[in-house]
Amino acid sequence: MTIAPFPAARFRRTRATDALRRLTCETELSVNDLIWPVFVRDGEDAADPIPSMPGVERLTIDRLVRKAEEAAALGIPAICIFPYTDPALKTEGCEEAWNPDNLSNRAVRAIKAAVPELAVMTDIALDPYNANGHDGIVRNGEVLNDETIEALVMMALAQAEAGADILGPSDMMDGRIGAMRLSLEEAGHKNVSIMSYAAKYASGFYGPFRDAVGASGALKGDKKTYQMNPANSDEAIRLVERDLTEGADMVMVKPGMPYLDICRRVKDTFGAPTFAYQVSGEYAMLRGAADRGWLDGERVMMESLLAFKRAGCDGILTYFAPEAARLLRA
Ligand code: PBG
Repeated sequence: MTIAPFPAARFRRTRATDALRRLTCETELSVNDLIWPVFVRDGEDAADPIPSMPGVERLTIDRLVRKAEEAAALGIPAICIFPYTDPALKTEGCEEAWNPDNLSNRAVRAIKAAVPELAVMTDIALDPYNANGHDGIVRNGEVLNDETIEALVMMALAQAEAGADILGPSDMMDGRIGAMRLSLEEAGHKNVSIMSYAAKYASGFYGPFRDAVGASGALKGDKKTYQMNPANSDEAIRLVERDLTEGADMVMVKPGMPYLDICRRVKDTFGAPTFAYQVSGEYAMLRGAADRGWLDGERVMMESLLAFKRAGCDGILTYFAPEAARLLRA
């Protein structure tokens, strides 16, 4: 066997200079890819940090509006609101969920009044309002599907009425997208978008979020009867297909980093607008290590976000959004 005098392909040629690296770059992250999830609360005007999510705070509506203005100025296209509901308002029937003047709906109205160009996304699931902490109505220990959908539809209509641009059903009940779409059309909200949490896994990475919205204490049991088994991939494809057929405009995979294979399959199979949620536990993991000096925080933040684009995502819900936007614009 003769050994070639030089390697057949020198991949290092296109990596040799910054110019060549830029020229051969396959994927780019931009501020247009970011959706910023935020936590809103009622109560006195004071800082309210979330210990398991360093750098993230629950914001009063006034503070949230100022942050929304900053986000829009940075070029972030959308913000996603999660309410920290007063435990006294949590019931088994979850009635606060469709109260037109609940915290989330008041926040939507305030942001749309101050920064109309910023798209506002909302969360549709009963867990912030449920004395049981579950995303659906619980009776005799069972999370009921069809009864929950009736509640979710009322919730969707109240949010659309408040001015939400994108509704985000994160509940994982079967048939909710079709029911919501029909009711939205009937109510005249034909331009309200739905981003379905189509492939949402029963994940341990949601822990810090449940602290942030005060659901950790309330939740009885786990969410495995409605959220997906982390072992499954084909099922994600079937769920995305179902939700697109029922009228979802965009679909989401959640969590993000451990599920990039799902993002790629979804994008390749349907070509639909595909999003990933880099969830609270992923944020806590990166931020926690960076705060201890174990990782270069800015570097892993940008690398992790770019990875979503490489995996086929059109955008990312990330608590890093303002920080990443500042770096992208620098
Ligand atoms: C609940 C909901 C969850 C998240 C978004 N909506 C948590 C859950 O399903 O328990 C998690 C987001 C995050 O962890 O950042 N409907």
